[in-house]
Amino acid sequence: MRIPEQKVEEIYNAVDIVEVVSDYLPLKKRGGNYWALSPFANEKTPSFAVSPAKGIYKDFSTGKGGNAVNFLMEMEGYTYPEALRHLAKKYGIELEEAEESEEEKVGRDKRQSLFIVNEFASKWFHQQLLESEEGRKIGLSYFKERGILQKTIEDFQLGYAPDSWEAFTEAAVAQKHNPEFLTDLGLSGTSEKSGKLYDRFRGRVMFPITNHTGKVVGFGGRVLTSEKQMAKYINSSESAVYNKSQILYGLYHARQHVRNEDQCILTEGYMDTIVLHQNGIQNVVASSGTALTPEQIRLIRRFTKNVLMIYDGDAAGVKAAMRGIDLLLEEGMNAQVLVLPDNHDPDSYIGEHGSAAFREFARAEAKSFLDFKLDNLSQQLDVSDPAQQAELIRAISDTLARLPDMLKRQLFVKNTAERLDISEELMARAVHEAMQSLGKQQRREAQRQQRFDPKPEAEVKPLRAFETLDLARQEKELLRILLNHHDKSFELHPTENLEEVENIRLIDFFMDELEGLPFENTVYENLKEEIFKVYRQNETLQLHQYLSHPDPAITSLTADLLSLAEVPSENWRKRGVMVPPIDHDLSRAVQSAMYHYQRRKVGKLLDELQEKMKVMKEEEEDELFEMFMYLTKMRKEVAEKLGIVVEK
Ligand code: UTP
Ligand code: MN
Repeated sequence: MRIPEQKVEEIYNAVDIVEVVSDYLPLKKRGGNYWALSPFANEKTPSFAVSPAKGIYKDFSTGKGGNAVNFLMEMEGYTYPEALRHLAKKYGIELEEAEESEEEKVGRDKRQSLFIVNEFASKWFHQQLLESEEGRKIGLSYFKERGILQKTIEDFQLGYAPDSWEAFTEAAVAQKHNPEFLTDLGLSGTSEKSGKLYDRFRGRVMFPITNHTGKVVGFGGRVLTSEKQMAKYINSSESAVYNKSQILYGLYHARQHVRNEDQCILTEGYMDTIVLHQNGIQNVVASSGTALTPEQIRLIRRFTKNVLMIYDGDAAGVKAAMRGIDLLLEEGMNAQVLVLPDNHDPDSYIGEHGSAAFREFARAEAKSFLDFKLDNLSQQLDVSDPAQQAELIRAISDTLARLPDMLKRQLFVKNTAERLDISEELMARAVHEAMQSLGKQQRREAQRQQRFDPKPEAEVKPLRAFETLDLARQEKELLRILLNHHDKSFELHPTENLEEVENIRLIDFFMDELEGLPFENTVYENLKEEIFKVYRQNETLQLHQYLSHPDPAITSLTADLLSLAEVPSENWRKRGVMVPPIDHDLSRAVQSAMYHYQRRKVGKLLDELQEKMKVMKEEEEDELFEMFMYLTKMRKEVAEKLGIVVEK
C-alpha cells in the first residue's frame, strides 16, 4: 500500500488529535492539555495526556506516545498505512490506491485474511466449548476438572474442536473463508486421495496463540484421551502470521504485569501459563514446546531484563535450563532458575500444594544462574579430584564467557573463584580461554552457514549485529572505528537528496553525528572529546600521544582499540558474526554503526525523559514536551537513515 506523499500531508493537516483520541477515550481539559485514564494500564488517576498544540499524546504510565497515527497504531494494532487510511476515511480524504503494486497488495491482503480466518476459528472453537453439547460435555468438563475457571476460559479464549472430520472446515467455508487460507494456517488439511479438506484439530481442547498485540496467530490443541499413538498436542503450522520461534504464549496477557513486576516467568506449557495466571501470578509466558530462542528473548527484553525459568527436575528439564541460561546471558539478560520437585510443572505443583505454597517455594528456591550451575555440577562431579574440578571450572567458564557486560563478567569471576576456592586469576584465565574458544566455534559455525547459504543478505547481517551490543559496547566500537580510520573518507548520501553524493572524512562525520550525544562511559567520552579537540586544533592526529597519555585509563583503552584493529570485536566474534572488512564498504559499515548507536542512545534519552515527565510540574510541561518532540523527530530521522543504509 503506497499512499502518495501529498495525500499523507493532506491527512496530517486535517487531523485533530483531540478528535481522534476522543473516539476512544473521554478527555478532560486541564490547562492547555487534555487528560484521560490510560487505555494501556489499569489506573485510578489519569496519566494519559493529549497536547492539541503539538498534535501529540503521551501516556505516562506506559511511556507510549506520538501523534494521532501512532495512537491508532497502538490502539487498533494498525500498520502505518492502515492508520493513515483510517484517518483519510474519517476526514473524507479520497485515496487512489492504484499505486500499490500487485505484489504488495496480495501480501497485505493475505496476512490480513489469515488473521481474520484465525479470529473466526478462535471464536468458533470457543463457541463450541461453551455452547455445543459435545463441547460442554467433553471439553468444558475437562477444563473444569483441571480447575480452570470460567473467567480464565474467557481471558484466554479457550475452545474445543469437535471430534469430526469436517465440522470446522464446513463452518469456515460456509462463512466464505478461502480454503487456501485454511490449509495455509494448518487448520484444515487436504486429503491425498480425494483432494477434499478435512479438520486437522479433532476432539481436542484448543488454546489460541496470540502475538504480543493480541492477534490470534495459531493454535495448540490437546488430546483428551490417553491413547499413546496420538500426539498430545498438535499445533498450527507456521504461516505468514505464525513463526513459532518469535512467539511467546501468553505474552499479550502478561506484558503489563511483566513490566510492573520487572520480571518475566518462563514456563514450558500452555496449562502452566494459564493456571499461574488464574492464581494471580500474571507475569508468565510459555515457550510452548520449542526451545527458547533469541527472538523470544528479545521480545521479553522489551518489557524486562529479568527472567525466571521454571523447569521440572528431570534430566531434560535441567538440560533445557542450562541452554536457556546461556542464551539469556548472551542477550544481556539476568537469568534465574526454579526447579520444581517430583517432576512437577507449575500447574501440577499448584494442584497438589496450592498457590500459596508455590509462591513460597519460588521465593525460597529460585536460584541465580550461577548457583544453579554450580549446584548441578558439584552434584555430578567430585571436586576433590583435580581432573573433575578442572571440568567444573571449564563448564562454569563457558557460561560466564557469554556475559557481554565486562564488569558483570568480572564480578562473577570473582564470586565464582571465591566459591570454588581458587584464585581469581586462575578463574579469569579460564573464562578468557572459554571466550576464545567460543569465538572460534561460532566463527566456524558462521562460515559453515555462509557456505550453505550464500545469500546476499549475509552481507547485510553483520552490520545488524552492532545493534545487539549494549550502549557501552557500541561506544567502544565507534571509538575503535574512529581511532583506526579517522583519516579515511567515504561517500555519504544526504537523506534529503539521494542523488547527491558528498565525500566526507570519517572524523568529520563523527563530529557531526555525535554532537549533543555524549558517550555514557566517561573514559570513552574523554578520549573522544580529546581526539576531537586535537583535531580541531591541527587537523592531524598523533595516535602515539594517546599511547603515552597521562591518564592511564586512556592509554590502556587506546592500546586495546588499536591492537584489535583488524580483529572483529569480541562480541561480534562471539556471536559468530564476521564483521565486514571495514575497507570493503567503509561507507556502509560506518553509517550503519553510527545510526544503530544513535537509535539506541535516543531511545535511552527518551526513556529518561519519560521518567522526568512522570513527575513534571505544570511549568515544566512545555519544555519537556518540546524535548520529547525533538527526540521523537530525531528517532524517526535515524530510523530513516538506518533503513536506507541497511536496505540499500
Ligand atoms: P507437557 O507435555 O509438559 O504438557 O508439554 P503440559 O503443557 O503440561 O500439558 P498438560 O498439563 O499435560 O495438559 C509442555 C508444552 O510443550 C508443547 C506444548 O506447548 C505444551 O504445553 N508440546 C508438548 C507440544 O507442542 N507438543 C506435544 O506433543 C507435547
Ligand atoms: Mn502440565
